[in-house]
Amino acid sequence: MIIVLFGPPGAGKGTQTASLTKHFGIPGLSTGDMFRAAIAAGSPLGKKVKAVIDAGDLVSDDMVNDLVFERLNQPDCNHGVILDGYPRTVAQAQALDAWLQNHHLKLDKVIELKVDDAQLIERRAGRLYAPSSNRTYHVTFNPPKVPGKCDETGETLVQREDDNPEVVKHRLDIYARQTSPVIDYFGKQGRLVVIDGMAPIDEVYQSILAVVEKPRQA
Ligand code: AP5
Repeated sequence: MIIVLFGPPGAGKGTQTASLTKHFGIPGLSTGDMFRAAIAAGSPLGKKVKAVIDAGDLVSDDMVNDLVFERLNQPDCNHGVILDGYPRTVAQAQALDAWLQNHHLKLDKVIELKVDDAQLIERRAGRLYAPSSNRTYHVTFNPPKVPGKCDETGETLVQREDDNPEVVKHRLDIYARQTSPVIDYFGKQGRLVVIDGMAPIDEVYQSILAVVEKPRQA
């Protein structure tokens, strides 16, 4: 099972991926989390991408594709994966399709979470992030049990560098210009399912499950 969760920054991709990976017992592959881990570790990759990510720009297609394909080749991805935040350009979508074809695999579902800009800004303003577990909370919509602490690890929650209002505006602009064409790419091939991402977290989750668990057409 290979699923793409698609949508603008703050749409809820990471939140839903965390629940879906538990439900299906397959890993989630978040390119954003992989880059943040590389930055935190001070690795050569992290040093290359830090300024790009902090500014809210996209990392180059080649770098992202290499990272994703290396991860997809690992044995824990053999039974499937949930792609969160990839592909994010048409060139990435084409590269993914070529990789899947070479490996005799196909995408099961591309799910777009649709959320309006005002809500995206509110979600990003209140987001809290746990750097070790990669879990995401929101001060109002999804608060941790103990204020400021991750439910799973107890670590202190932080705000992401790229959640400041200026960078958020820039990321929405980048999404409109560079990422939204991917909707057309998958839409034209009839591979896109659109879900109302404005609903509460659990309702969005149930809608995704209904789509993913729907039997395939013969
Ligand atoms: P990445 O980390 O992927 O950021 P993003 O796609 O911009 O998405 P976010 O993580 O901001 O949001 P999300 O949709 O996961 O929402 P979340 O669940 O957190 O990428 C970061 C950067 O890395 C990029 O800017 C780029 O530089 C680089 N990068 C990554 N992938 C790349 C690629 N493929 N190509 C090039 N560069 C790449 O939810 C947000 C908030 O809302 C949370 O507080 C949550 O609790 C709350 N929330 C979630 N769902 C709901 C709901 N239904 N109702 C109310 N609140 C909700």
